[in-house]
Amino acid sequence: MVAVAILAAGKGTRMKSKLPKVLHPLGGRSLVEWVLTSLIEIQPQHRLVIVGYQGEQVRSTLKDYPDVVFVEQTEQKGTGHAVQQILPYLDDFSGDLLVLNGDVPLLRPQTVKLLLDTHVCHGNAATLLAAHLPNPKGYGRVFCDGQNYLQNIIEDRDCTPAQRQSHRINAGVYCFHWPLLATLLPQLQNNNSQQEYYITDALNGLVTTGDGTGGRGVMVVDVDDYQEILGINDRKQLADAYGILQTRIKDQWMAAGVTMVDPSSVTIDDTVQLAPDVVIEPQTHLRGYTSIQGGSRIGPGSWVENSHLGAQVSVLYSVVTDTEVGDNTRIGPYAHLRGHAQVGTGCRVGNFVELKNSQLGDHTNAAHLSYLGDATLGRGVNVGAGTITANYDGVRKHKTFIGDRTKTGSNSVLVAPITLGTDVTVAAGSVITDDVPDDSLVIARPRQTILPGWHPPTSASE
Ligand code: UD1
Ligand code: CA
Repeated sequence: MVAVAILAAGKGTRMKSKLPKVLHPLGGRSLVEWVLTSLIEIQPQHRLVIVGYQGEQVRSTLKDYPDVVFVEQTEQKGTGHAVQQILPYLDDFSGDLLVLNGDVPLLRPQTVKLLLDTHVCHGNAATLLAAHLPNPKGYGRVFCDGQNYLQNIIEDRDCTPAQRQSHRINAGVYCFHWPLLATLLPQLQNNNSQQEYYITDALNGLVTTGDGTGGRGVMVVDVDDYQEILGINDRKQLADAYGILQTRIKDQWMAAGVTMVDPSSVTIDDTVQLAPDVVIEPQTHLRGYTSIQGGSRIGPGSWVENSHLGAQVSVLYSVVTDTEVGDNTRIGPYAHLRGHAQVGTGCRVGNFVELKNSQLGDHTNAAHLSYLGDATLGRGVNVGAGTITANYDGVRKHKTFIGDRTKTGSNSVLVAPITLGTDVTVAAGSVITDDVPDDSLVIARPRQTILPGWHPPTSASE
């Protein structure tokens, strides 16, 4: 049986932010959500998140994780003090407790599983992850015997200059035999440079209380890829972690058959799904719950967020959010689709066209200079250049309906609420204020007047 505790109560002073550190976003998820995601390969019986600084905000960010139990740490007196707070919650628990810092977002689920399996298989008192870092500054240093049994963990601040030379660091991810930890936790001392209670001292305590041979020891598991265990303490480390995450995501999609013309100029959230033979052009950003089918070409210069694009779609220099696009549709250049727009198959939404909360039937085109808001268009409609739905009366939004095969002339204004039937033709420059029946031509503009032989006056007159 396994319980998990995530330490998420700290302020994160080094971030210099109003937002608690563990809520800083990293590619579509907050840091603490990444840590929760790293648990997918184990089935913990309890999931505890220790909250403190702006705990309400952390609770509300994690409201969609129904089995998470929040534990309050009202004063933040260190990582050991944080773990002490869970004592009343695991009263009768006799299994293992996995403890993770809330600021270690890049941990792979397989690594967490390896830690737990090693711990269980050796019957350890505790097992922890370590790594050799090129730049170990700020991390606790881990010292072991030849068999990878822990001798000592010393915080960077508390190291002697010689100890600080070591590059083997504590990842902040531990597995404890809970009954042993529970007896040690109340004895933690804060006699260190920070005057904090360190969870690492519980590990040091287990080393000295262990019976050495054959008994339960404290074992160190080294992680091969040190990038997994990088902790986020400041904005620079946050940016570095983002770079690592992006490389992981993009490498994975390229291996799965996605072409990236210039990967370094592209960003992709981990929540995005791409089919083989999607092509991502430079300067393109795919965000949120976006999916794109095969043969589509996105970019250059595009932003696609929470949108579903069919096969063979192209998106050129455009912004597409909360939108569904059917197969073989061309978007852009310079289009903006938003607010739950739905575009059918074989459509064209072109230069300087904005769609908001509008539906376009199959083979409908709006190719130039239009605003279509709260509008439902049938199939095979042609929206003339400069057509505008006037959907807002200053207080409320109103709907426009346009039937199949209708054509609007250039520079038409459709004053909503309004319905145009099927096979309607709207004359250019019309301002349409009344509904139009099927199969008709509507002209709503002053007629052109010609005065033959007329000349402007040649001199000022009375
Ligand atoms: C900690 C470890 C260090 C390790 C490093 C790995 C200790 C004493 N040191 O240092 O050995 O190399 O992580 O990244 O544990 N938190 C609370 N309550 C508190 C204090 C912290 O919940 O009272 C949470 C923070 O929100 C954070 C996590 O614990 O998510 C780690 O705290 P942090 O202050 O970042 O520890 P480090 O100094 O990085
Ligand atoms: Ca940290």
